Amino acid sequence: MMHFKRHIFLTSLIGVSIVGLRWFCVAAPPKKNPHPAPTAGKVSYYHQIRPILMTKCLPCHSTANHAGMLDVTSYTALLKGGAHGPAFVKGQPAKSLIVGYLHGKPMLMPKGGPPLPKEQIALIEKWIAQGAVDDTPKPHGKPSQQKVSHR
Ligand code: HEC
Repeated sequence: MMHFKRHIFLTSLIGVSIVGLRWFCVAAPPKKNPHPAPTAGKVSYYHQIRPILMTKCLPCHSTANHAGMLDVTSYTALLKGGAHGPAFVKGQPAKSLIVGYLHGKPMLMPKGGPPLPKEQIALIEKWIAQGAVDDTPKPHGKPSQQKVSHR
């Protein structure tokens, strides 16, 4: 009789712990993915904007050769901006220096033209409108933070 009771006790104990464990797994907050897949509609600075600037503006706006005091090679440099201040205003494409210049106001960039394709200008405007988020990967990310999500 004693033996039987103990058996039930143990079974239910295991049962409870399994349920508890599963609850824990489900309820555990999702680990921050260090490499989020590009979400549809959300413009990525690092994957979409930076490559445009690096191809079209770098000859004149690099760290070494910063025309108008502007360096387009990093988010930080863009935010710092050039002779006329920050290249963009978060959330406000219409107030962003870079957008004006891309439309030829007060001067067309890339200097000497041709202007960027409409889609690229629109993409830059969209990125700024979405808050000009910096998604540059951190160069000194601790390996311990890069947990592999188990799916
Ligand atoms: C052929 C060289 C050249 C290229 C390519 C070029 N620029 Fe420029 N840019 C200049 C020069 C020179 C100035 C300074 C103009 C002045 O104020 O007299 C300037 C100024 C600017 C300024 C104003 C900075 C400030 O604060 O005064 C912005 C913004 C800018 N460029 C953005 C861009 C962007 C974005 C691209 C690429 C799409 C680009 N430029 C490509 C030569 C260039």
